[in-house]
Amino acid sequence: MRMYDVIKRKRDGFELTPEEINYFVAGYSEGTIPDYQASALAMAIFYQGMNARETAALTMEMAASGDMVDLSPIPGIKVDKHSTGGVGDKTSLAVVPIVASCGVPVAKMSGRGLGHTGGTLDKLESIPGLTISIDEERFFDIVNKVGCAIIGQTANLVPADKRLYALRDVTATVDSIPLIASSVMSKKIASGANAIVLDVKCGSGAFMKTAEDATALAQAMVEIGEHVGRTTVALVTDMDRPLGNKVGNSLEVIEAVEVLRGTAPADIADTCLELAANMLMLAGKGTLDECRTLAQHNIDNGAAFEKLCQMVEAQGGDSSVLRDTSRFAQAPCVHEVRAPRDGFVYHMNTEEVGTAAAALGAGRETIEASIDPTAGIDLARKTGDAVKAGDVLATLYSSEEERLYNGERILLDAYDIREEAPVAIPHFLARVSRDGVERLV
Ligand code: URA
Repeated sequence: MRMYDVIKRKRDGFELTPEEINYFVAGYSEGTIPDYQASALAMAIFYQGMNARETAALTMEMAASGDMVDLSPIPGIKVDKHSTGGVGDKTSLAVVPIVASCGVPVAKMSGRGLGHTGGTLDKLESIPGLTISIDEERFFDIVNKVGCAIIGQTANLVPADKRLYALRDVTATVDSIPLIASSVMSKKIASGANAIVLDVKCGSGAFMKTAEDATALAQAMVEIGEHVGRTTVALVTDMDRPLGNKVGNSLEVIEAVEVLRGTAPADIADTCLELAANMLMLAGKGTLDECRTLAQHNIDNGAAFEKLCQMVEAQGGDSSVLRDTSRFAQAPCVHEVRAPRDGFVYHMNTEEVGTAAAALGAGRETIEASIDPTAGIDLARKTGDAVKAGDVLATLYSSEEERLYNGERILLDAYDIREEAPVAIPHFLARVSRDGVERLV
């Protein structure tokens, strides 16, 4: 077989055979297929797409390119969650302890942030002392004793995706449904959970800009999960505004604590409850309604918050900052961004809000760069809110004064303030399962 022919067949719109997909993934992982041929194939897939058979084969070949984690030392049904990425998305920090507090173990492997999206590991590491580098034996031990743990993906988890994702990032081939679906699902399948809940984001802060595309991505991922025997449910949720009010690492931990204390803004609180309820349902804890009630009960009685504290302590962290969030290290430089005119926040370019947070020091441009855990944005106004000239739109935090001005410039550009109010955007757009697409709007 020649890589040239595989590229040509996909370029010309043919279905790739399982042998061709295996040839590509194995050769690219071993280094016998060079980046320029992998880029050409990624672009051919971008334009021609892949059907369900091809996408499932690509996913399974990628999953098998490295370690496949065996979670069987942890008794019970293990449910994982994944978000396709957005701005202010701190759901894992709250959802994992909510689910664990209801008796369902969660052994979660997460990633770091890159570009305008934040990563769960970076957020967790803003808790003093906490480590995400934990070996498998200790990981299982913590999940068995505490009920949950969140650690970094091992170096050998889906190495084919690591290479291919880095390549897609620089060849304008990230936003392809089969490539995103296989990338996400290969990692979820290799991480070993029995069931998976996906949060597929839609809007200006997401890879998928329209509800149609986000729903198609959700369907592709559900189909892959079900094809390999992992029950999979996907919620399609709005990312046309940042999720919650806080963007940045320690700021997002603080907002996750607010979710668990019942004091968070409605959009983030509702998203966490819905994700947790779906995870509990897949673990057999009852109907979706019963699971919502169960999750809400454990938020209200403090059990979910205590579970987060236990997990943080088991991972070496200082949980006193969660009990009193004013003990988090504070950014030395603070600046309020004010509305330039009267009107309504008509729209927010959410990706730009993420870029502003990264410019303040909360994100990284390259995978090796370090981040400022105290940097970020606390949004006082979001889409739909009325403003008067001079009102505070947001407060910026950074360790470096000069970053504030760049952050302010980018953030002001992200706000579209007009005389008329926008049409209200619903937060939940669809729920996709093996039973089909339930449109929620
Ligand atoms: N997240 C992933 O893990 N992979 C993608 O391709 C896009 C988002």
